[in-house]
Amino acid sequence: MHIETLSSSHKPSMRSLVEAIHVEQGLLPQFYWPKDLLGAEMAAAEAIGVFEDAELVGFVLYRELPQAWEISLVACHPQFRRRGYMEMLFEHLVAAKGQERELWLEVHEENVPAQKLYEKLGFKEVRRRPRYYMDGATAILYTRS
Ligand SMILES: CC(C)(COP(=O)(O)OP(=O)(O)OC[C@H]1O[C@@H](n2cnc3c(N)ncnc32)[C@H](O)[C@@H]1OP(=O)(O)O)[C@@H](O)C(=O)NCCC(=O)NCCS
Repeated sequence: MHIETLSSSHKPSMRSLVEAIHVEQGLLPQFYWPKDLLGAEMAAAEAIGVFEDAELVGFVLYRELPQAWEISLVACHPQFRRRGYMEMLFEHLVAAKGQERELWLEVHEENVPAQKLYEKLGFKEVRRRPRYYMDGATAILYTRS
C-alpha cells in the first residue's frame, strides 16, 4: 500500500472507482456523482489516493477555501474496505494540510460508515442542514481543527 498525490492522469481510475461504488450501492443520494459533476469536481479540487500495488483503491478530493480545506469526495473501492486505508489516507491529509486550516466535510444522515470513519478521526459535528440531499435527507457538517 502507498499514498500519492493524484494528477489528471489518474482521472480514469477515479471515475472507475466511483462507478464501482455506484454499481455496489445503486445511485443512492448518500454517494451519487453524475459524470458531469464528478468531472467538474476533479477539475477544481486537489486529490490524494491510496494504492494497492498499482491499483487506485481509495481517494479523497479536497478544495482550498479561505479558512478551511473542504473535503468534497471520499471513496474506497468496495473490495478494499475495512482495511484502514481511508483512515491512513485521512491521517496523511491531516498531517499535510490540517496544520494550516480546519478540515470541513458533510455527510448524509444515513451514511453511518462514513460518519464512523470521521468520528474515529476526530471530526466533530458542528451543524445540520435539513433537506440538503435530493431524497430530502439532512446533511451533517463535521469539522476537524
Ligand atoms: C466510508 C468509506 C470511505 C470507509 O472506507 P473504509 O476503507 O472502509 O474505511 P477504513 O477501513 O479506513 O475504516 C476506518 C474506520 O472507519 C469506521 N468504519 C468504516 N466503515 C464502517 C462501517 N461499515 N461500519 C462502521 N464503522 C465503519 C470504523 O471506525 C473503521 O475502523 P475499524 O475498522 O478499526 O473499526 C467507504 O465505506 C466508502 O467508500 N463508502 C462509499 C462512499 C461514501 O459513502 N463516501 C462518503 C461520502 S460522504
